[in-house]
Amino acid sequence: MDTLPEYKRMTPALRDRFERLKKRPVILECRDVVKEFQNGGGSTRRVLDKISFEVHNREFISIIGPSGCGKSTLIRLIAGLETLNGGDILLDKVPVTKPGAERGMVFQKYTLFPWLSVLRNVMFGLECAGKDRDTADYMARQWLDIIGLEKYANYYPCQLSGGMQQRVAIARALAPQPRVLLMDEPFGALDAQTRTQMQNYLLEVWKNVDITILFVTHDLDEAVYLSDRILALRANPGKINEIIEVPLEHPRTQEMILSAPFQATRRRLDELINPHRATMKNEFKIINMVGADHNF
Ligand SMILES: Nc1ncnc2c1ncn2[C@@H]1O[C@H](COP(=O)(O)OP(=O)(O)O)[C@@H](O)[C@H]1O
Ligand SMILES: [Mg+2]
Repeated sequence: MDTLPEYKRMTPALRDRFERLKKRPVILECRDVVKEFQNGGGSTRRVLDKISFEVHNREFISIIGPSGCGKSTLIRLIAGLETLNGGDILLDKVPVTKPGAERGMVFQKYTLFPWLSVLRNVMFGLECAGKDRDTADYMARQWLDIIGLEKYANYYPCQLSGGMQQRVAIARALAPQPRVLLMDEPFGALDAQTRTQMQNYLLEVWKNVDITILFVTHDLDEAVYLSDRILALRANPGKINEIIEVPLEHPRTQEMILSAPFQATRRRLDELINPHRATMKNEFKIINMVGADHNF
């Protein structure tokens, strides 16, 4: 009899896949990462406390956790946009101290330059990485082709839908061929249908491009659907609660969402992120006091 919880049960083929994943080279390593911010009164508040994990080449890792637990702070530290108060972040064994071309970033808010055309937006990162104008133009057009927006090269961001703008943002981040793609709730502002399309689109890009992805989301279904592994954080201070290996094969399909392993993993994440749910019954007593009729 298998005594493992359902979300940890795997077929031999899946177990094998995770064993192989662990043998891949480590691209990114966080060792005892600490981040503190100053409070108004001059005291300090520890937001991230001794976060340690490793990301292997070509993995897709999601970071989830309650609002304010430090997900964005963690990803900004890895991007080199914030400074550490303790520990180390190593990319290909080199400490991260500032932003660099090896790390592409996509945020929730549409961050395309509104005054530049779609083509120019994608060229921007390439020119920053030192490519001359002709090379950048050629490579950017190739990327627009990959994301299926070659016809929109001369459009401006405001002329595109939200989903199309995020596709351009992904192309812009990937064009300089970073080692790691850092994404902070990139589909958070999209409607449900576009979000599903973008998730499938991202998985397709990930399959075809040599890239490792670190993806922040607060959407549990999104985390399970996309990831190899999920880092579940807890808040105050932000710590790793559990690292979950998602017991699903690739490629992912919409049918998997209804499967037992998917739902068991989602339930586990819910327990980790919303531990107070178990005590919520007490709160409902207030409603009972107003004398609602339970027999309707
Ligand atoms: N620049 C800053 N100065 C002070 N506090 C900050 C700063 N950035 C984030 N914080 C605080 O750090 C905590 C974690 O924030 P954040 O990383 O944005 O959380 P999440 O992305 O998980 O919602 C929050 O309490 C937030 O208010
Ligand atoms: Mg955030």
